Amino acid sequence: MIRIFLLGYMGSGKTTLGKAFAREVGLSFIDLDWYIEERYHKTVREIFIERGENGFREVERQMLLEVAEFENVVISTGGGAPCFFDNMEVMNQKGDTVFLNVSPGVLFHRLKVATHNRPILQGKTNEELKSFIVEALEKRKPFYTQAKYIFNADQLENIYQIKSSVIAL
Ligand code: S3P
Repeated sequence: MIRIFLLGYMGSGKTTLGKAFAREVGLSFIDLDWYIEERYHKTVREIFIERGENGFREVERQMLLEVAEFENVVISTGGGAPCFFDNMEVMNQKGDTVFLNVSPGVLFHRLKVATHNRPILQGKTNEELKSFIVEALEKRKPFYTQAKYIFNADQLENIYQIKSSVIAL
């Protein structure tokens, strides 16, 4: 039974790489944000507005516990998921965790055009966004780096590096 959790900041390529990776190795793919949206019939943005960030984190926790029981899956988690409750321990217990490590400069270039559906980033100027990313990474890295595998994903365009390390097929 294979269960892989992909972790990393927003814009680190969890969904894009995760989908390609899952297809390549014949596993199902689940994006935790999409799973939440389907279960709650609401967008992540709407849940943030209605319940605030703490409320969203509780929802995210519950949904993580659900998907953490699925088998033969690649699960892309939301950027904040590993950093709340004991989510990181749960993921390490339930499967193989993979951190896609992307430098702040690269994240900034990816995220400056993609803030609209990410409530945490909305309304920030480019300068604010830059320093926000740097600070957030400092806080979140201690969680992300508890992952079993860490890849420098600044230029990780293909999934073969992950495939050969995580699943020796
Ligand atoms: C968040 C990341 C988002 C989403 C929510 C909060 C975060 O997921 O869960 O907007 O705190 O980093 P992605 O990393 O998939 O964009």
